[in-house]
Amino acid sequence: MKFHDLAEENRSVRRFREDEKITEQQLLTFIDSARLAPCGANLQLLRFTPVTERRHCLRIFPALKWAGYLENWNGPEEGERPPAYIIIHAPIGERRHIPVDAGIAAAYIVLTARESGYGSCMIMSFDGKLLEEAAGTPDGYLPFLIIALGMPGEETVLEEADGDIRYYRDAQDRHHVPKIALDDLIVPVKD
Ligand SMILES: Cc1cc2nc3c(=O)[nH]c(=O)nc-3n(C[C@H](O)[C@H](O)[C@H](O)COP(=O)(O)O)c2cc1C
Repeated sequence: MKFHDLAEENRSVRRFREDEKITEQQLLTFIDSARLAPCGANLQLLRFTPVTERRHCLRIFPALKWAGYLENWNGPEEGERPPAYIIIHAPIGERRHIPVDAGIAAAYIVLTARESGYGSCMIMSFDGKLLEEAAGTPDGYLPFLIIALGMPGEETVLEEADGDIRYYRDAQDRHHVPKIALDDLIVPVKD
């Protein structure tokens, strides 16, 4: 698939087909893409935990906060929860490169996953203490970003934003994601 098509298709997914598992080997292929991604000064500071076992997923799920704009929705129900996660850990005290490196790594992961048909959601709103305990974050690191992964269990609709960028669900329970038009993002260079 062309990269632009992949970008168009890859919406965040928050409801999954929980019984359709992803193997650890598959997660390692996604992480291997992140390994090859650019990173500041080639320092390669991030560490990754693949999570596929149900008992581990059960420990991680309560730490996560879902879809802030959907006020009447408390996250995926049993049966639609993510069957896998990748946790990205960052060294404590390193500030300069981490947010950019983690964003690039996460993008490589979710796009590699999408290419194989998997959906995902990057999550940065979480209970850090809970997640750290559940994840087994190494000494000297903190969990920085977690990616929920699995076969999509919801339909998503990409649309052009009409003044409001908040995602929402329609009467058919489809998740709509408004994106600002290309022209409105462009800042012309000064003559
Ligand atoms: C850095 C970052 C943090 C995010 N944190 C959360 C989160 O904590 N919970 C959540 O449900 N979605 C989270 N998301 C998903 C965004 O809400 C989503 O990317 C956005 O609504 C646009 O939708 P799209 O990914 O389908 O384009 C996060 C995305 C990014 C890139």
